[in-house]
Amino acid sequence: MKLDIIAGARPNFMKIAPIIEALEKVKDKIQYRLIHTGQHYDKKMSGSFFEELGIPDPDVNLEVGSGTQAEQTARIMERYEALLLKDMADYCLVVGDVTSTMACSIAAKKLGVHVIHVEGGIRSNDITMPEEINRMVTDAITDIFYTTSEVANENLRQLGHDESKIRYVGNTMIDTLLKNMPRLKQPTVFSELNLKEKGYFVMTLHRPANVDQEQKLKSLIDEIVKGAKGMPLIFPVHPRTAKMLEQIGIQADNLHMIGPLGYLEFNYLVKHAFAVVTDSGGITEETTVMKVPCMTLRDNTERPETITIGTNELVGTDPKNVAPFMKKLHSGDWKVGEIPNLWDGNTAHRIVEDLLKLV
Ligand code: UD1
Repeated sequence: MKLDIIAGARPNFMKIAPIIEALEKVKDKIQYRLIHTGQHYDKKMSGSFFEELGIPDPDVNLEVGSGTQAEQTARIMERYEALLLKDMADYCLVVGDVTSTMACSIAAKKLGVHVIHVEGGIRSNDITMPEEINRMVTDAITDIFYTTSEVANENLRQLGHDESKIRYVGNTMIDTLLKNMPRLKQPTVFSELNLKEKGYFVMTLHRPANVDQEQKLKSLIDEIVKGAKGMPLIFPVHPRTAKMLEQIGIQADNLHMIGPLGYLEFNYLVKHAFAVVTDSGGITEETTVMKVPCMTLRDNTERPETITIGTNELVGTDPKNVAPFMKKLHSGDWKVGEIPNLWDGNTAHRIVEDLLKLV
């Protein structure tokens, strides 16, 4: 069986790493080809993850680079289609919800290649998010869903997908986290700022809804800075946010803006943090497993289990909402949380066992 594995942007890399590791053991039965679309291309957004997580160099890099949503989608589709026409695959495995996920699914499916979606079925029901459109389109043409939660299974059933296509296997991102827990690496900022365990916040912001409007971004950061009550806030800044922050020129004594961190350093910081403030989806899964309180600056989430089971709370995007959650956090009232079923480090193994049945 010939299988294409697609990876394009930062949150994809930790999801494919354990799948590739498991595939390496069955190379005689499944021939895989790793395709990097080049959506993320900076060393800090891409290359460093390959090195740290031991992902082999991609067999092909489509080198699409930056662009609007449509430009990136179009370039990825054109280049992936050309690759398939030269050398066809039987299956195309995509992960997550980034532009590369959707673009490759479409190109594959139109050529009769079966689509496998890892992390299928999750929904924020917020159609203004590019990721939601990517999820909907990808799932509409997916042949096999590997899911992370019961909620995802139910969403897929409601959409009319046959039970036989839905396989609840757990979370490959958590495979990577659990495997790398003993290797987490203290970043230099830890000693430079003399950080204390459970004595600082980690913050990440990159969603267009939060960072593309100058005033909104400024008010949000102001409220977080105030709510931190002098505790250091470590803010590894995504390239999208950096562009806007330069224009605003925001400053505060306890706000420390640094460049994007590698995987091992970022998760070290999260593990030892007092709390995390984020608008990412994936980070809420990692904080759930590490049992670190997490405040999500979004009005919705496609990962409700991080709230109902884990340590996450939805704060919303209105800056006024930050203060009450900060109060709860400082009073020590935050929930401890549990770990969702099958987020146990063995998900990629289950996926590959299942893929072998297709051979
Ligand atoms: C993408 C994903 C999002 C994910 C995020 C994590 C989509 C629709 N969104 O959003 O789900 O949470 O990645 O990082 O796919 N840039 C660089 N260097 C890079 C990559 C990007 O400077 O290596 C710049 C781009 O030029 C652009 C901005 O960062 O200005 C945004 O990049 P883009 O890939 O378009 O989307 P993200 O916002 O990163």
